[in-house]
Amino acid sequence: MKASYFERHGGPDVLIYGDLPDPVPGPGEVIVDIHAASVNAADAKVRAGGTYGDIESFPYILGRDFSGVVASLGEGAKDFAVGDAVFGVCQAGQEGTYAEKIAMDQALLAAKPDSLSHIDAAALALPGLTAIISIEETLKLKSGEKILIQGGAGGVAGFAIEFAKHLGAHVITTCSARNIDYVRSLGADEVIDYTTQDFAEILTDCDAVFETVGGEVTQKSFAVLKPGGRLAAIASGVKAPPSPRDDVQSLRPAVGRDRKYMARIIALHDAGVVHVPPLTVYSLEEAAAASAKSESRHLTGKLVIKVR
Ligand SMILES: NC(=O)c1ccc[n+]([C@@H]2O[C@H](COP(=O)([O-])OP(=O)(O)OC[C@H]3O[C@@H](n4cnc5c(N)ncnc54)[C@H](OP(=O)(O)O)[C@@H]3O)[C@@H](O)[C@H]2O)c1
Repeated sequence: MKASYFERHGGPDVLIYGDLPDPVPGPGEVIVDIHAASVNAADAKVRAGGTYGDIESFPYILGRDFSGVVASLGEGAKDFAVGDAVFGVCQAGQEGTYAEKIAMDQALLAAKPDSLSHIDAAALALPGLTAIISIEETLKLKSGEKILIQGGAGGVAGFAIEFAKHLGAHVITTCSARNIDYVRSLGADEVIDYTTQDFAEILTDCDAVFETVGGEVTQKSFAVLKPGGRLAAIASGVKAPPSPRDDVQSLRPAVGRDRKYMARIIALHDAGVVHVPPLTVYSLEEAAAASAKSESRHLTGKLVIKVR
């Protein structure tokens, strides 16, 4: 199969477009012919090495979410038939969707509805999963609460804005000037241009913060919370960031994988609660360019790789 893979950690240029052996399904697994894979911010961190620890075995294929068609069934895999359109997110610790094929545990796959193209389904999978778990299960956001969603123009945060509005929250978000109209179109009630304004000097008394930017933004975000407030961070490593305050909660969402979240994404999409964000589509051969763009951390919506 064709794949975009790397043999050593480094910049986008370490990604090689070439041939690797086809995957073989284990018990309960299916082989999916991938049509589209999304490019998530984590991919560039894995490629660069360090953040998540170094890869021990090469060649290594990036990519955590995808949409495609079931091509063959492993022993005992009965949930789907060959030819079914499916989408999903790989098990935590598994990657490999920047490729024409992947072996997946059938339990993680969901049927892709006709209402979503393969590109759209891939774009919503991991961002939707992460946003739903963070907003609903981790922050337990309630109607009438005030939430700051950091980095509103990104993939996860964009989904989170629409979902938080659906839950009845008052949503404040940050982005650069060129993305202000976009985040307003998602429903944000207040927008702070982080290039000209300091959110920490403007905001107080937030019930919750969903922090997707990382670095010093995470640490500064604690200041906007009211006593008893909670902050969920997904861009500051795998543990909850240390809190400079003892009267607020610091949380790290446990982004588990399960088919039920894919079904929820479909339901939210089909009900018009969430929308497919603006997409920039690359070919598999262009994965290095996609990875460089993702690593810049300045984009609108999602980057997607069209595999076939
Ligand atoms: N399972 C998990 O735990 C999980 C899952 C998904 C993602 N993540 C993590 O969550 C983070 C976000 O992922 P993503 O894929 O949604 O990111 P993304 O789409 O790459 O986000 C990029 C966005 O960040 C915005 N941004 C950059 N610097 C900013 C700043 N200082 N203030 C406000 N906005 C800023 C950019 O807006 P402008 O262009 O306007 O600057 C851009 O729209 C990443 O660190 C990723 O690793 C974790």
